[in-house]
Amino acid sequence: MAPIVVTSALPYSNDRLHLGHLRSTYLPPDVFVRYLRRKGEDVIFICATDEHGTPIALRAEKEHVHPKEITDRYFPLIKGDLEKMGCSFDYFSRTTEGIHYEMTQHFFKTLLEKGYIYEQEIDLLRCPKCDKYLPDRYVEGVCPFCGYEGARGDSCDSCGRYLRINELKDPKCAICGTKPEPSKTKHWFFRLTAFEESLKKWLEENSKIPENVKKYALQWINEGLHDWDITRDMSWGVPIPAEGGEGKVVYVWFDAPIGYISSTRACFMIKGIEAQDMWRRYWQGDGRIIHFIGKDIIYHHAIFWPAMLMGTGEFNIPEGIIAGEYLTLEGKKMSKSRGWYVSIENYLKAFDADPMRYYLISVAPLDRDADFSIDDFVKRYNDELADVLGNFVHRTLTFIERFFGSAVPEARLNENDERMLELIRKTVAETASLLEEKRFRDALLSVMGLAREGNKYLNDSAPWATIKSSPERAAAALYTSAQVVKAIGSMIFPFLPSTSRKVWEMLGLTSDIERLPWDEAISPLPQGHKIGKPSPLFKKIAPQDIPKIRETLLPRKDVGERIPIEEFKKSKIGIGEIIAAERIKGSRDLLHLEIDLGEFGIRSCVAGIAKYYAPDELLHKRVAVLMNVQPTTLFGFKSEVMILAADGGDKVALLSPDRVVPSGSQVR
Ligand code: 2FM
Ligand code: ZN
Repeated sequence: MAPIVVTSALPYSNDRLHLGHLRSTYLPPDVFVRYLRRKGEDVIFICATDEHGTPIALRAEKEHVHPKEITDRYFPLIKGDLEKMGCSFDYFSRTTEGIHYEMTQHFFKTLLEKGYIYEQEIDLLRCPKCDKYLPDRYVEGVCPFCGYEGARGDSCDSCGRYLRINELKDPKCAICGTKPEPSKTKHWFFRLTAFEESLKKWLEENSKIPENVKKYALQWINEGLHDWDITRDMSWGVPIPAEGGEGKVVYVWFDAPIGYISSTRACFMIKGIEAQDMWRRYWQGDGRIIHFIGKDIIYHHAIFWPAMLMGTGEFNIPEGIIAGEYLTLEGKKMSKSRGWYVSIENYLKAFDADPMRYYLISVAPLDRDADFSIDDFVKRYNDELADVLGNFVHRTLTFIERFFGSAVPEARLNENDERMLELIRKTVAETASLLEEKRFRDALLSVMGLAREGNKYLNDSAPWATIKSSPERAAAALYTSAQVVKAIGSMIFPFLPSTSRKVWEMLGLTSDIERLPWDEAISPLPQGHKIGKPSPLFKKIAPQDIPKIRETLLPRKDVGERIPIEEFKKSKIGIGEIIAAERIKGSRDLLHLEIDLGEFGIRSCVAGIAKYYAPDELLHKRVAVLMNVQPTTLFGFKSEVMILAADGGDKVALLSPDRVVPSGSQVR
């Protein structure tokens, strides 16, 4: 059996992780590795924090601390969050470990010796006040493509483009705001262009690279690659092991993927002297390498990294690069900077790991975008985890407890029972083959399918009724159902490890599920076997609990600047009746309204609600209006007041009083 190293992309050590990260990068490989271990594969699951780069250096500078202080702060938080979500890394390292510096410098020197790294003098920006070069995010300015003013030296957060530092318009030093000056400096470049053909061949011939990764990577290669600047003028990072490299470090994206190898080495270093070289068998010889990443870093993993590996000639090239697509939150793009995300930290305040593992794995295949919404989460928790899985297990075990003194009954099986047992064998084989193909969602649905069939079988055989009329039938039904419970408890392990352990305990089994071969799921519980104490696996979520869950999971949006009540009182909001409404020619968005505001008269209003309301449905509606807004003229119509509406994204609703008050009544 060839050794396998499975990795999750290394998170930057300056922020905590959220559900989007879990879905694309951390849960799928965990499911995979838990399965491979039970299959008896020689597999190792590796991750680390990515601790270099300008965002960390810049933040440290702004907080007046050393960058290592930032990464020391986040390392335990990130590692802890992932562990609490059940991610079972064999080793979780850091790219600030000595072994990582050694490995990175080894890569650099080898590629330099082989002629794949060369020096070149280039023009960069230098801050005269801070007296230093300004790499990547140390420069802020205007994006030349979309005009966004907060673009940085390496990318624009608004249009998402990668930028070269000299492309930014109106550049400023991110620390002091001074206008930087061009200045010559020596950098080292990786000869990426030398690998165009080999990369293309590798991508085209490797059937295990998923289509989404292949498509992007081949497109980039066909557009033509450029040699890659792999050094930066700063002190935070791995020093350059070459003459003239003082005061410079290797670029974070050069050292980060090497972290996969150095962390594997670190994993064995702590196991004692005899194990020192064991890391090699995962990266050399017949070792298989499988990376799990988010789709935003396909370029780095399908272009830069394999080229670096090819260049050294010392390591294998990845067999698999699995890139998870994006997860939206309540239909909107998650964004840390806009405060729209669910952190692992907050999620764990409300729930255990397994319900979210279930949701994120089953919501959609990894290569499709997916959405997380609280309502859907609650629905699927109640309908699927509690009603299908939990209920089947609980019913089976409580009937065995009640009718057969907690012992798996002796049974004479009929054809129907045999069919159910056959379904167990089929599902165990099918789930395994789906897991081999990394179709995690389908594999989980296959296990849940068995639970559904189990419920149906139990309903049809109704042991609670036959226990009186035909106890033999009740015994056969519960014997069979107990086998289904065991198979589910075993197969659910890679997906929902703590639920699996609970089922195991309730079945009265003392073996360590993690160490049992996958196929053990089909070996039956013997007749007479004593089960443990049944208890519900998932407590249903009541509708009245949902607002509290929402409050815990979703970040509270900042309302922005607070104003004194006196400020608000300056706004004169009144209730008026719409007495005329018409479309405005030449505008798709605007309507012209006449609003009767009682003692304040009839006022003309231009409102941007044409997409949401037809003129007719507005007539005689009583609405809230800001009466003392500065008047303006739009499309030749006077707009003296402003109609108030709630903006619900794709839904807009006018504000109306909930009982009749005279026109002109003021809102206070
Ligand atoms: O995009 C990121 O979050 C990077 N820290 C991922 C690095 S993955 C690997 F190359 F180390
Ligand atoms: Zn400066």
